[in-house]
Amino acid sequence: MGLRVGIMTGGGDCPGLNAVIRAVVRRAALVEGAEVLGVNNGWRGLIEDDLAPLTRQSVTGILPRGGTILGTSRINPNDGPDYPALIRATWERRRLDALIVVGGEGTLRAARDVWHEHGLPLVGIPKTIDNDLDGTDFPFGFDTAVNTVMEAVDRLHSTAESHHRVMVIEVMGRHAGWIAAYGGIAGGADVILVPEHPFRISRICELLQHRKRQGSAFSIIVVAEDAHPVEDDNFLDEETLSQIYRQGRLGGIGFYLAREIEARTGIETRHANLGYVQRGGSPSAFDRVLATRFGVKAFEMVLDKEWGRMAALRCAKVVSIPLDDAVRKIKRLDEEIYHVAEVFFG
Ligand code: F6P
Repeated sequence: MGLRVGIMTGGGDCPGLNAVIRAVVRRAALVEGAEVLGVNNGWRGLIEDDLAPLTRQSVTGILPRGGTILGTSRINPNDGPDYPALIRATWERRRLDALIVVGGEGTLRAARDVWHEHGLPLVGIPKTIDNDLDGTDFPFGFDTAVNTVMEAVDRLHSTAESHHRVMVIEVMGRHAGWIAAYGGIAGGADVILVPEHPFRISRICELLQHRKRQGSAFSIIVVAEDAHPVEDDNFLDEETLSQIYRQGRLGGIGFYLAREIEARTGIETRHANLGYVQRGGSPSAFDRVLATRFGVKAFEMVLDKEWGRMAALRCAKVVSIPLDDAVRKIKRLDEEIYHVAEVFFG
């Protein structure tokens, strides 16, 4: 009996998931008798025994496509008391030898627990637009999202300039400011607000008015969805705070920030929330190549029985690291990047 490997994509989707699926299938095709089974909809597929074979034919043409042909979900094996037993039953029924889990922080943390607590032989691959997974210089998905943000900022720049307005652009990133910082630097933002550095609204308004006095009647602000005001200069009431910083789902700071800026400065201000646009679309060349490298590496980690480990990018090389190292803490925005962003404030 040949090697049987399952592959799943879990958590929020991102560009490059199909590239990684294709790479795993193509690498497996070089091993006599090896089979790949696609697990549909993340952990849900193992819980509900929803798997289907993936062949060279079924992955033809998927490299440039956004999303994931396997579907995804945010179901966690720890969410239901009977889930581990159901996963084990599917595993045995399908005669799986190994599982490749493609996920972000939540999915890979669950994979780490499944490996430690239930001993299922698995390896991980990092994907997320947020770039908040530790242990890898970059996951795939981030580069494409940043390019999407950059293009949007470019477009919003021209309309802000024409109308002499302040434009507040809200971006994703969960509790890390990577997308805001990279997208903002690439798009030439005048202010970038990230969760790692709580902001002072009075200072932002001063910057905008100073810019106006200097002859720049428009300004671009990029704000991360989890950026928040300092406590001693907070302009949001309790109810608004709990609406923006909801458990598990963030969003809305851009709207309130724009409203406050207009009220304080008198400069016409608009906001745009880029939302799920950042997760969609065709992967960039960087993400296609990185996803492909991760897919090939992960399959080779299976061949080498490197269980409980994750493919990672370290100093331009793809290596294998313990899953424990990747999920111990979230990777916050690098101070060096923030320092560069700050040079252009105002
Ligand atoms: O983790 C990726 C991400 O897009 C975050 O940037 C965002 O906060 C979250 O997922 C949105 O999650 P959902 O798809 O569950 O609304």
